[in-house]
Amino acid sequence: MTKKTVLFVASEGLPFIKTGGLADVIGSLPKELVHQGLDVRVVLPLYLKMAINNHDDFDYMASFDVRAGDIQTMANVYSQVVDGVTFYFIEHRQYFEREELYGYDDDAMRFGFFQHATCRLLEALNFFPDVIHSHDWHAAAIPFLCRTFYSYRDEFRSIKHVFTIHNLAFQGIFNERYLWSALGMDHGYYRDGTARFYDDCISFMKLGILYADKVTTVSETYAQEILTEEFGENMQHVLELRRHDLLGIVNGIDYDTWNSKNDHYLVKNYDLASISDKKANKLALQAQFGLPQDENVILVGIVSRLTWQKGFYLMTEVLSHLLQAHVQFVILGNGEEDIENAFHHFKSAYPEKFAFYRGYNEPLAHQIYAASDLFLMPSMFEPCGISQLISMHYGTLPLVRETGGLRDTVRPYHMESKEGTGFSFGGKDAFSMKQVYDLALETYYERPDDWQKLVEQAMNLDVSWTASANRYIHLYQEITQ
Ligand code: ADP
Ligand code: GLC
Repeated sequence: MTKKTVLFVASEGLPFIKTGGLADVIGSLPKELVHQGLDVRVVLPLYLKMAINNHDDFDYMASFDVRAGDIQTMANVYSQVVDGVTFYFIEHRQYFEREELYGYDDDAMRFGFFQHATCRLLEALNFFPDVIHSHDWHAAAIPFLCRTFYSYRDEFRSIKHVFTIHNLAFQGIFNERYLWSALGMDHGYYRDGTARFYDDCISFMKLGILYADKVTTVSETYAQEILTEEFGENMQHVLELRRHDLLGIVNGIDYDTWNSKNDHYLVKNYDLASISDKKANKLALQAQFGLPQDENVILVGIVSRLTWQKGFYLMTEVLSHLLQAHVQFVILGNGEEDIENAFHHFKSAYPEKFAFYRGYNEPLAHQIYAASDLFLMPSMFEPCGISQLISMHYGTLPLVRETGGLRDTVRPYHMESKEGTGFSFGGKDAFSMKQVYDLALETYYERPDDWQKLVEQAMNLDVSWTASANRYIHLYQEITQ
């Protein structure tokens, strides 16, 4: 039997470039699929950081014209194989060699180009996969393009498509003129409603939802939530049309990258059998941030984008109360100015209890996951969440709001049965969060045996990709048979 071929298309992926959980997924799911017998390749844009750090290791593959709408330019493609996964990098210096990945005025053009270049790459390599698995809005128009713009070739028409929504809040909504400029498509697709979203706009994501054979998202609960007005980001009616082809498959994490037993960023490695060694990481982190060194105080960690989504307005509302307890906080992240300012304020008001590192820092993230006792993630919505999975795997109990993937992956502490792998609350108010925080602290200080049991249960939980990769394989089989 020939191997199924799957092409992943995404805007970021480890080990090359990361701003959030999407990169974790793109860096780990293909690897597991290869392990389970598939031929998986990944297409990414070649950003400035990758050009600086990795270019020398890349092999030149091809150059070709990309012509669609106002895009009339050339693409170069390089490649590298990592853990059996072939990565292709699309080079266009003007579009991608910039400081940031996203947030530019010409994002429609940049990612319109990226998607066309991906299709042209398939022609250049004469490689037509069984399935294209596109991720988020940056790759969402690919099923549409294969079935319209490139439909002159049978090979494009035969490809099956899976589109995965990692975050419905980012949809790639642009003025309708970009339907032609960035995608090279006729205005008729706006007029008839296909690409249309709000007045005068199109949504790249809508095209993925309508044209893919299957639409997935990254947890079962989020798959249901996005059909509602509250979480649907005005896309719920479109999603409703695809309800029978929409499913949630929960993310896993890469056990090679996230392994407390041999994580080289830690001052002391540990596993469940040597869990007392975890404390050495706490002492080291306290020293690093100038907090009093005390292995008994509960250390609360956060590693996150600092945005409304992540629930930090809820948290800052009650932070002065949370800090009245015998507690220390270490926070790593950057994002919205109001949240950053609030954290700077608490850092100067409570220097013995509150540490804040503004920025993105991979080694520090590992150290916080290992050093903390409790990991705070009170998200307002959370498609899946990678951070709570990492923290459980590191024996750090997550405190989460019961939404999306957080609800599906964290089993809340039950005082009588001693079940659980963390703590959770359902309300959308700061008081509900404070109540569960109090319960967590009380458990830590007054019922250490219960705490220990939760840590064991969290560390024994299977948060690898094995089961979920298998679900994707079934999905690919279902649409290609
Ligand atoms: P999202 O993708 O919505 O930001 P996830 O929980 O899915 O949230 O994934 C976030 C990923 O990014 C995790 O791997 C987390 O460790 C990492 N991360 C987030 N912020 C930072 C940061 N400031 N420094 C280092 N890693 C970070
Ligand atoms: C998005 C979501 C996050 C999810 C990640 C990977 O960034 O916000 O919940 O874990 O994608 O799927």
